[in-house]
Amino acid sequence: MNTQRFIKPIILISCYFALTVTFSAVSQTSTITPTNEMKNYQGKTYVEQYCTACHSIKLITNSSGYDYNDWQALTKTMIDLSSQDKIADSIFTYLTTTYPPNTLRTPTLITGDAKISFTLWQTPTLGQRSRDPIEATDGTIWWAGQRQNLIGKINPTTGEMKEYLLPENAMPHTVTTDNAGNIWYTGNKNGSVGMLDIETEQITEYKMPDEKAKDPHSAIFDAKGTLWFTLQHSNMIGRLKPTTGEIKLVTMNAPKSKPYGIKIDANGAPWVACNGRNCLVKVNPETMELTDIMLPNKATRVRRLDIADNGIIWYVNSSQGRLGRYNPEDGKIKEWPSPSGKSSHPYAIAVIDNIVWYNESGMRPDALVRFDPTTEKFQSWAIPSGKVYAGIIRHMRPTKNGNLLIHQSSTNKIIRVNIIR
Ligand code: HEC
Repeated sequence: MNTQRFIKPIILISCYFALTVTFSAVSQTSTITPTNEMKNYQGKTYVEQYCTACHSIKLITNSSGYDYNDWQALTKTMIDLSSQDKIADSIFTYLTTTYPPNTLRTPTLITGDAKISFTLWQTPTLGQRSRDPIEATDGTIWWAGQRQNLIGKINPTTGEMKEYLLPENAMPHTVTTDNAGNIWYTGNKNGSVGMLDIETEQITEYKMPDEKAKDPHSAIFDAKGTLWFTLQHSNMIGRLKPTTGEIKLVTMNAPKSKPYGIKIDANGAPWVACNGRNCLVKVNPETMELTDIMLPNKATRVRRLDIADNGIIWYVNSSQGRLGRYNPEDGKIKEWPSPSGKSSHPYAIAVIDNIVWYNESGMRPDALVRFDPTTEKFQSWAIPSGKVYAGIIRHMRPTKNGNLLIHQSSTNKIIRVNIIR
């Protein structure tokens, strides 16, 4: 079993507190005026010391680069240096000198005739990393605030929002809705799935029946009202029947397949994307027998997939920067390079009226891409994020009116992409 997933959020929180203490202990008295060279050296040392506490230095070396003010704005979402003027100044001076704005991660945007607009909502609780918005049957929009253990709803007409704290340590990876409009979440950290009854506002928690099933991840209901979900690091797929509360789990055919996105086809069969192996997996809804469909390149990793009304499976080849199409009728596979290339890391995907939408999460800003299968033409837009990294889209789902719900987890924004027809 891979325990990394469970350790990571704890490290992120605890290192934040540890750093606050360390910073206050550092002396700031100095009698000589440092030269830029000295400040740079100091800055490098501080960056190595403090900025790598939560993540690898690669996030900095591979970043899109920023000017002084934007480095300041970006790191504000991670660490509070406001009472450490001199340390902060040498960190930002060093970063600005060494990593000024670059074009490494600039998306290749393609113009076209399609028109969209964005409606943005800012969720209330800071640091929650809002994600995975979905529209419920009553038109409200729900999201998961994974880091603050909550789910929330927006009334898109009034803009009013309400957040619900979940049972201890659930740390919801996603939310979805059942056919009656209740809201379900995956308890990614406490091995559960839960339901918020929208009438009573009571939560029912369903624990996994196997202690090896630790991390419920993505989830979706089929037309019969059965909940299907993936467990990425536990390498399992689960099924929950709300009428009886019965949960059945199956392990993937190959180790470390990392089942990720999940969708249901017109015949009620779930399809799963593999984020650890070059496969798509079809689930027999009765027996839960799994059939692997191997994708051509061994290095292929697929975060998510979606199924068009005509039965075609569309998937993001995240590791290779490609969009893929699998036809279950004849088994044919076709892929297209995404406009921003190999490192564009396509992530979330949704098919609306047979048009494919996905994002290039490797780019800054994260780009929203539209692909028309009839003309095989791409069009793309930068997702509005201000000047600094706002968090990539990890899941996107359509509304009943054929618009698209996306999010930015670092800035806690929920966004509706209004597709103008
Ligand atoms: C409290 C933990 C924490 C600390 C301390 C921290 N970061 Fe981060 N940083 C994060 C998280 C979380 C992300 C987002 C990772 C993701 O979205 O996958 C991130 C992402 C980044 C990124 C990537 C942005 C992008 O465009 O993808 C850069 C650059 C970065 N941090 C720089 C810094 C610098 C510089 C410092 C020190 C001043 C720092 N970080 C300190 C938590 C932290």
